[in-house]
Amino acid sequence: MPQKILASEEEPSPAREQARTGETPSANRREDTMKISEIAPFIGAEISDVTYDDLERQEVFDRLVESLRQRELVVVRGLELTPRRQIDLAARLGKPVPFLVEKYRHPEFEEIMISSNEIRDGRPVGVARGGNFWHQDSSFVAAPAPYTMLHGVNVPSTSGHTLYANASDVYDRLPEEWKKKIAGRTALATVGKRLRIGSEHIGLSIAEFRALADAQYPKVEHPLVREDPFTGRPYLYGAPEYLDSVIGFDANENEAFFAIVDELVQAPEHVYTHQWTPGDLVIWKTATTYHCATEVEPGVSRTVHRISIESDDWRAERQGGGKQRGETAGQGETAGRGEAAGREAERGGTAGGAARRGGKQRGKQRGGRR
Ligand SMILES: [Fe+2]
Repeated sequence: MPQKILASEEEPSPAREQARTGETPSANRREDTMKISEIAPFIGAEISDVTYDDLERQEVFDRLVESLRQRELVVVRGLELTPRRQIDLAARLGKPVPFLVEKYRHPEFEEIMISSNEIRDGRPVGVARGGNFWHQDSSFVAAPAPYTMLHGVNVPSTSGHTLYANASDVYDRLPEEWKKKIAGRTALATVGKRLRIGSEHIGLSIAEFRALADAQYPKVEHPLVREDPFTGRPYLYGAPEYLDSVIGFDANENEAFFAIVDELVQAPEHVYTHQWTPGDLVIWKTATTYHCATEVEPGVSRTVHRISIESDDWRAERQGGGKQRGETAGQGETAGRGEAAGREAERGGTAGGAARRGGKQRGKQRGGRR
């Protein structure tokens, strides 16, 4: 539950607005009813009492964006949205990215991936829920889209929660000895740990399967500690499930480092559990937000619409960002393989399957990339 009104998001009083704009305040201005509250001390802002029409006003949307930049995660409760309107909102934040695996797209809107366990006319409505492990979205590619937006279309509040932690908060809580050990280091990110062995891999040795996965999904280098361009705070970039190793660490050091990251990310007093209510719109910064899906109870249906959003506003941060091994920063990723692999991985895909579906996209730059 919201704990307090953000000091920086003080409600604009009619008198203050009049002083600022020189206009006579209107009694019907919906902005006056919008509330922005801290969700938890370490992450999140919750916006309530707004409609889609309110968010169409630039000054209202700007407050949402500023909350997102400063708090990593924004929740708008009870927002009635059509798929078209969700895309329109995403387009004001950046460039909605068409989802690359066609069969998981919304039938009318290629930017929307449907995450659902529902069956309609004998066919799955969307992708059965994935991402049930702690991760930062697509951190195994060189330049992940900086924002993710989910809209709760049909959501239970009793299960299917999403857990969130703040990567700056995780860094802050690292023991000083570990901060010193990782300073200036580069990590190798990989989707390899999340791939499943499929029927096409029968007969392969484990070493052969690993070699195949490495060839199809090359590891990507990322600085392990980065600085958030909006908050100025250092943050840890890398979740153990998407990390191969820290360059320069031996096996014991890697193991110890992964263990402490897992412990810090999952520390209950530093995790926000989002219990979904119908119409929730949840947006987060992919780099600075660790998250994890939880199970949906048997017999309960759940559908969420997901949009991945490119944005120029993360450019400055990215310039020192990831690269595939042996390549110059920013050149490493082609659209199809990385994103398709990610979605495959978060739903438990196989190496070959993801590569086949994503392969035709190889060589294309993802929309909106610099
Ligand atoms: Fe995710």
